Amino acid sequence: MCKTISDNGVYLRGMRNTFHDKSWFMSIVPFDVDTIVDFGCADGSFLEYMKRNWPEYRYVGIDENEEFLAMTRERGFEAYGNLMEFSKKHSNGDGNVLLVMNSVLHEIYTYKGIPQAEEIWGAFLRNGVKYIALRDMYARGCGIFSSKTEANLLDVCEQKDKHAASNNGELISLHDKLSDFERQWGEVNDGYKLTHFLLKYFYSLNWERELVENYLPFHYRELHEAIRSARYDITFESFYAIPWLKQKWLNDFDCDTHPALHAFVSKVTTHMKLFLVCGE
Ligand SMILES: C[S@@+](CC[C@H](N)C(=O)[O-])C[C@H]1O[C@@H](n2cnc3c(N)ncnc32)[C@H](O)[C@@H]1O
Repeated sequence: MCKTISDNGVYLRGMRNTFHDKSWFMSIVPFDVDTIVDFGCADGSFLEYMKRNWPEYRYVGIDENEEFLAMTRERGFEAYGNLMEFSKKHSNGDGNVLLVMNSVLHEIYTYKGIPQAEEIWGAFLRNGVKYIALRDMYARGCGIFSSKTEANLLDVCEQKDKHAASNNGELISLHDKLSDFERQWGEVNDGYKLTHFLLKYFYSLNWERELVENYLPFHYRELHEAIRSARYDITFESFYAIPWLKQKWLNDFDCDTHPALHAFVSKVTTHMKLFLVCGE
């Protein structure tokens, strides 16, 4: 069950900062697409951004959150609670559907679990989705990290807390966040958990919700298997690190004075982008 978002404004503002990167697939949209469906559209502001920049497509939103659906409709977009509702209304005219999944797959795996996530994968083809552009968090290259002590993670958190206290800074100390994280996910003793912690430590107002959400719920092989079972082929795949995020980690954790952490941060990725084409 999804935890309530304690502050929608903060949640939605966080999403908007990344629209440029989230629209990465627009340079490779196939010529036969006429409808772009934003699956997990939140308040519809990404649809608005897309429509402003690429007005030639029909745009539709899907979200399971009723409040977000209402906000999307207020912006003037067709919006549905799930893909079935959309496909009932949608008549395939001349063009095909491209489904966008930005930062939603990890939520599906976290809150619905693997069997339901597999059902959702299966529903894409049944409901006429020919193309999928997927972007989510993904850690690659994190195998070089082997222990919390090696990275001096506790020391770094304590130093950062002292600095924040003198600046009247954070609501929850970094040390407490690390403790909360380890209670929820176990000791940070591998690169996957370290990346997971680094991806979420800076959330404060929605900390309780973010804490329990699994940002990195699938491994590469499982994801490929799910995609293959859903009968899609991967035609583009990229793993990368968001530059501002890396810079934030380097600054926040004083990586210049912590070589093991610096080496880790330099190597690990934070996100992936995949473009899928229906294999039929
Ligand atoms: C992290 S937000 C991402 C919002 C937006 N795609 C973006 O990147 O800015 C995830 C969104 O997906 C929605 N969501 C999660 N699971 C869903 C599901 N199974 N079906 C439809 N929407 C879902 C949530 O309500 C939320 O609005």
